Amino acid sequence: MSRSPDAPLATSLCGIPLRNPVLAASGTFAYGVEFEKLVDLNALGGFVVKGLSREPIAGNPPPRVYETDGGMINSIGLQNIGVRAFVAEKLPALAGLRTAVLANVFGYKTEDYVEVVRVLEDHAGLAAYELNVSCPNTAHGGIYFSSDPALLAEVVAAVKQVARRPVVVKLSPNVSAIEPLARAAESAGADALSLVNTFIALAIDARTRRPRIGAGFGGLSGPGIKPIALRLVCQAARSVRIPVIGLGGIATGTDAAEFLIAGASAVQVGTATFWDPRSPQRIARELADFLKREKVAKIGELINSLKW
Ligand SMILES: Cc1cc2nc3c(=O)[nH]c(=O)nc-3n(C[C@H](O)[C@H](O)[C@H](O)COP(=O)(O)O)c2cc1C
Repeated sequence: MSRSPDAPLATSLCGIPLRNPVLAASGTFAYGVEFEKLVDLNALGGFVVKGLSREPIAGNPPPRVYETDGGMINSIGLQNIGVRAFVAEKLPALAGLRTAVLANVFGYKTEDYVEVVRVLEDHAGLAAYELNVSCPNTAHGGIYFSSDPALLAEVVAAVKQVARRPVVVKLSPNVSAIEPLARAAESAGADALSLVNTFIALAIDARTRRPRIGAGFGGLSGPGIKPIALRLVCQAARSVRIPVIGLGGIATGTDAAEFLIAGASAVQVGTATFWDPRSPQRIARELADFLKREKVAKIGELINSLKW
């Protein structure tokens, strides 16, 4: 039997087989189908679609992105076509793929998350859900789901009641300690964690004295956030038993290896796809080269292998 070139990279995540551990991150890969002509979608470890809400959202006023030293700030405003249009217009094409497609889900009340997942449950073509909990809970005075262990546990437990697919909870880095949030998600039934989402940030045009981003504040991503993301992934992975997906500034195979060493079982690539749409596939190839060079037989040997 011939071994696929991905063999040393093959892995699984909460029961989902992945040909490699490199996925494209939510919000940077549209609904996947838009990248079809540029990227061999079946060669990816997987991808996470743009965040889906109950109703369509038009998003924030421009400018929505601003390039910084070592990254970018965005405030797209969670623009999306809404879960029902996604199911009708995008999911049929995704259902035929031989790669893991994760639906990123968000809302402003627990019921919003439950409703989006309930709609998706009736349709084939998805491997798992990823909950973006970096949203203010309007039923609780705007406290972020991602910064309050009790609110986080509530939304995760409610989604778990209706989800037959695995639920990945995507944590925010904008907290003073990640461990209580990681543990709250795990105790409420999360099958895996992913982190990090973007860092709340501000860029100013000194001449006009205005924010560079139309909505004011935005989320910082890209290579500049990698060391903080690595620290958070390491702390989260040490505080739970469920698998962790690491992301934040990954642009090379060595970056991906660093996240695995810090405790991640898989990684996602976001901002790097802005300058290289094929970066998830390239990073997987570079990770395979890294394993070969370092004489590591499979990625399992790297995971959580940090020497202090
Ligand atoms: C333009 C843009 C849009 C994003 N949209 C979403 C989203 O809809 N849902 C989500 O969970 N994360 C979203 N993110 C966050 C990314 O998925 C990722 O967590 C973050 O950018 C850090 O990874 P990176 O440094 O590799 O980009 C978005 C990021 C960017 C840059």
